[in-house]
Amino acid sequence: MSIKHFLQFSDLSLSEFEYLIARANLIKRKFKHYEPHHTLLDRTLVMVFEKSSTRTRLSFEAGMHQLGGAAIYLHTRDSQLGRGEPIEDAGQVMSRMCDIIMVRTYGQEIIERFAEYSRVPVINGLTNEHHPCQVLADIFTYVEHRGSIRGKEIAWVGDANNMLYSWLQAAQVFNFHMRVSTPKEYPIDPKLISPENGNFTLFEDPSQACAGAHLINTDVWTSMGYEAENAARLKAFDGWIIDSEKMKLAAADALFMHCLPAHRGEEVAADVIDGPQSVVWDEAENRLHVQKALLEYLVRGRL
Ligand code: CP
Ligand code: NVA
Repeated sequence: MSIKHFLQFSDLSLSEFEYLIARANLIKRKFKHYEPHHTLLDRTLVMVFEKSSTRTRLSFEAGMHQLGGAAIYLHTRDSQLGRGEPIEDAGQVMSRMCDIIMVRTYGQEIIERFAEYSRVPVINGLTNEHHPCQVLADIFTYVEHRGSIRGKEIAWVGDANNMLYSWLQAAQVFNFHMRVSTPKEYPIDPKLISPENGNFTLFEDPSQACAGAHLINTDVWTSMGYEAENAARLKAFDGWIIDSEKMKLAAADALFMHCLPAHRGEEVAADVIDGPQSVVWDEAENRLHVQKALLEYLVRGRL
C-alpha cells in the first residue's frame, strides 16, 4: 500500500477533505461528551520540531493520547539532528519505530527529503513555505460558523508566508476566491503557486482586499526564521493592520481569523482580535479535532 503524506495542502483531494471535515465533526462531538475514541490504540506519533510551538505540539500530543496512542516529542537541539545527522537517515530510523511522524522545520525541501525516506506517513507541522494543518483547521472553523466555503471571498492581508501559500492551495481545492494584499517589498513567490491557480486576485491597497470579504485573515509580519528582517518588515507593513475600519469594508457577517500567536497593535488591532467577529480561539481548538481526523486517516484510511 502506498503511503500518504500531508506535506502541503494540495496533497489531499476535495473528497478526502470532505471526509476529514465530517470525521472531525464526529470526533469533536465525542470529545465534548467525554466519549472515548481510541482509533489509534497503541500507535505512536513522533513529533520533530526545529522551530518553537505551542498549539501544534499541544494539539498533536493531546490528540494522539486521546486517540489511544502515544506521542513522542523531539527537538533538534536535543536530538542527533541538531548535530548533523542526515535527514535521510533520520527519516529511515524514526519511521521504523513509530506509525506516523509530524515535522516542523525550515525549508519545504527538508520535509520532502525526510518523507522520501520514511516508511510511515509524514505530516507538515509548518515549514517556511506551508502550514497545511492550520489551514485545514481554519476551513473547518469557517464551515462550522458559516457553512460551505465554496465561492466565498477570503481576504489575506499581510505577509506572503506559509499560511498564505496553504490558503492559496486550499482555494483551488475548495473553489473559493482569495483577495490578497501584501506590501510590494514582500510579494508572493510565483514558484510557490500552481500556474493553474486562478483562484486569487492581488490588490496593492489592503483595504481593497477587504472589500466585501466573507473572511479576513492575517498573520504575523515576521515569521519564525525571518527575525533578522523584523525592523525592515515593521516599516514595510505599515498600513497592513486589520483594524475596525478594514473590518467595516468586509461583508456584514465577515469573520476574522489569525493562526496565532498574534501581535496586537501590529498586524491586528486588539478590538478586532478580541471582538465579536473574531474566531481565533475556535481556530486554535479545532487544530485538535481536525488533526485527530488526519492522524486516523493517514494511519488507517477511511473508517
Ligand atoms: N498556529 C500555530 O501553528 O501555532 P504554534 O506555533 O504555537 O504551533
Ligand atoms: N507564519 C508564522 C506562523 C506561526 C504559526 C510563522 O511561520 O512563524
